[in-house]
Amino acid sequence: MNNSDILFRKRVKEEIVGVLSNRWMTFLQILKRSLNCDPEVLFNEIEELKSLGVVCAREDVDGIKYRLSAGCKIGKEDEEKEKKSERVKWELKDSKILGLEKKVDSILASLPEASPVYSQWWFCRSVYERLVKFLLSIEVKNARMAFIGCSTLGSITSNYNKEKVDIFDIDKVLLDAVKEHCVEGTRLIHYDVTSGRRQDMEGRFNVVVADPPWSRTLLKSFLVRSASFVCRGGALVISFPQILTRHSAEIERKNLVELAEKLGLLLQNVLVGFSKYGVPEFEKNAYESYGLKLDEAWRKGDLFIFRKEKRPSINSEQLITSMPKWEQFTQGKKRIFLKRDGYFEAGQMNVKTIDGLEDLVYQSTSSRKDAWRCASLISTRNCVAHAYGRKELSMTLKEMLTEKCNYIKGDRKIGVQATDRVKRRILDMM
Ligand SMILES: C[S@@+](CC[C@H](N)C(=O)[O-])C[C@H]1O[C@@H](n2cnc3c(N)ncnc32)[C@H](O)[C@@H]1O
Repeated sequence: MNNSDILFRKRVKEEIVGVLSNRWMTFLQILKRSLNCDPEVLFNEIEELKSLGVVCAREDVDGIKYRLSAGCKIGKEDEEKEKKSERVKWELKDSKILGLEKKVDSILASLPEASPVYSQWWFCRSVYERLVKFLLSIEVKNARMAFIGCSTLGSITSNYNKEKVDIFDIDKVLLDAVKEHCVEGTRLIHYDVTSGRRQDMEGRFNVVVADPPWSRTLLKSFLVRSASFVCRGGALVISFPQILTRHSAEIERKNLVELAEKLGLLLQNVLVGFSKYGVPEFEKNAYESYGLKLDEAWRKGDLFIFRKEKRPSINSEQLITSMPKWEQFTQGKKRIFLKRDGYFEAGQMNVKTIDGLEDLVYQSTSSRKDAWRCASLISTRNCVAHAYGRKELSMTLKEMLTEKCNYIKGDRKIGVQATDRVKRRILDMM
């Protein structure tokens, strides 16, 4: 364990002690208050505190509950810290937005399964209303709005904003699904933010809303692109990970704010925990192997609101790291993704396990980093594998999974025979 691990675990323990402060709480209740801490990490730290006698547990009607052991009172210093970290609140009117709940239900029902390759975390049903109200309240009337990596929110907002909105996302299947929920005239633009500038969009919007995947590189790329879309005087609303998300989250956030300044943005407000996400299928499956059942949302994002003040003072293009290209195949709402990177394109098709993984399933999101690097076949059900002979494999996948199979050239079907073993492997991953 290195120094940053030790410090981080100490911090998580302090957080648990602060959150518990002499109340009985279930694991999920602690998780929800723990600034986005990975459930596995949190669970291990609670267990360690238990073994040290700091925390005690009891079986209750709604499951195991935890509390600080007698004598472990929250100290003065912690109380101060609690006070200081009081959340910034945004005052929103109580009135309901007409028809919004119904729209949210129908959009959520139409979505494909979230994909781990694009880190898709759909917003929780309960937060759309406050997000839409917030967006409509921060800007000039008739704001031109762009949504980058938040297609569901863009689609709902299009129904209430006076101006047409533009929605950008890398996932074509997702864009097709949200299209029917948008008001006529909404533009749905298939765009990978790491693929190059969209000069035609730069400086075009009064409000840009971005909900990036929380990988270090994509947070930066999203910030650079979304900042460039905002017009002078306009606002950027972007969701960043909370501070216990990973060891480096706090310093990453500091660096992002510094980068924002160089991009001509001024930080105006931080709304802590304002965006809330449902647990995607891939994540649920990952935690189930730990015995952690997480049906309820636990991941929250802090919304950073910036104002565009001036022109960027740096050339930010070099900060963009390009993403691998993924081809996708569907089976109902489930999907499987095949990496197209030029490696292992030729040769005999094969689907193989990755070292250290039990069959094709990775155990948790926090342990997937290493598996991720070499993975080339990934499903929305938390399975990852090495795939060889990808050109041929993609034909098999098309034939097996995608409803519309269009690899017929002229009147000759160009097909390949996959072995039963390969086909079984693919079905196991769905
Ligand atoms: C954390 S999710 C946010 C989803 C959002 N909460 C919603 O409910 O619509 C990240 C989003 O960014 C998209 N995305 C991921 N990588 C991208 C890229 N390189 N360029 C554009 N969009 C990307 C994903 O498809 C996904 O919609």
